[in-house]
Amino acid sequence: MSPRGRVLCVGLVCLDIISVVDSYPEEDTDTRCVSQRWQRGGNASNTCTVLSQLGVPCAFMGSLAAGRVADFITDDFSRCGVDASLVVRHAAGVTPCACCSLSLASGSRTVLLWDLDLPEISADDFSKVDLGPFRWIHWEGRNGDEQVRMIARVNEMNGRRDPGEAITVSVEIEKPEKLDTHQLMGHGDVVFISKDFAKHAGYDSAEAAVRGLYGRVKRGAVLVCAWGEQGAAATGPGGEVARSPAFPPPTLVDTLGAGDTFIAGVIAALSRGQSLQEALTFGCRVAGKKCGVQGYEGLGELC
Ligand code: FRU
Repeated sequence: MSPRGRVLCVGLVCLDIISVVDSYPEEDTDTRCVSQRWQRGGNASNTCTVLSQLGVPCAFMGSLAAGRVADFITDDFSRCGVDASLVVRHAAGVTPCACCSLSLASGSRTVLLWDLDLPEISADDFSKVDLGPFRWIHWEGRNGDEQVRMIARVNEMNGRRDPGEAITVSVEIEKPEKLDTHQLMGHGDVVFISKDFAKHAGYDSAEAAVRGLYGRVKRGAVLVCAWGEQGAAATGPGGEVARSPAFPPPTLVDTLGAGDTFIAGVIAALSRGQSLQEALTFGCRVAGKKCGVQGYEGLGELC
């Protein structure tokens, strides 16, 4: 693939300390878990992991501190074939970390995240990035005001390129309580919203959400909403709604990062020129497969 074929994901990378438990523990008890591991996490970082497995060359941009946790993360990016050269390293501060419990009984994932010690990627950091190699840039909604400024830089650059050479912008809006990320809806060519966000906006299905919220995206954009075990829906400028069921594995093993996996599947398919319906179905298939394995191994077989 040409160097122009890369996808860049901007957002969180953290250490996930994962405890697999038979069932979710009672509060104030002391239980032995089934297994425990360290894993590189964070939405944008997980999306990169899956993109790379799906054969899409990709790079990650986010913040890391100094120290062993950051070294573990950097080594893992390289093990997974994700270019981490745009990571901004900070001499002071603590790399974000999440304690995650995965329940084998219910398939639930419970996350306790600490990510408030490092500065987010700023528009100034982003202004130094050579955009030449990228055909797609994805933002995990975090510091919305700055992210809108980063996207403005891409749009400005797109204005100077041939239309066929334009960089596609996608955004993920996951957490309803992060109010400054809501404005990103109007700035993506492809906008991913979470079930939580859609429910908070008053919708009770993915289809109702994409129909009801489409008026908030920019002209010509695509709006995508995943709804866990009920699959996903998407709509675009034509107005028709694409739907896909979920593809649950025989046994639910690990749902941590299923949404990030879905996003990677949709980006991989759309960036290869597949239709919205094909991309939605592919995203649901990859996410379903992921829920049947610990971590993100073996997803590339779906290509
Ligand atoms: C999964 C994930 C984890 C991380 C948490 C942060 O979507 O990115 O890897 O611990 O969410 O919110």
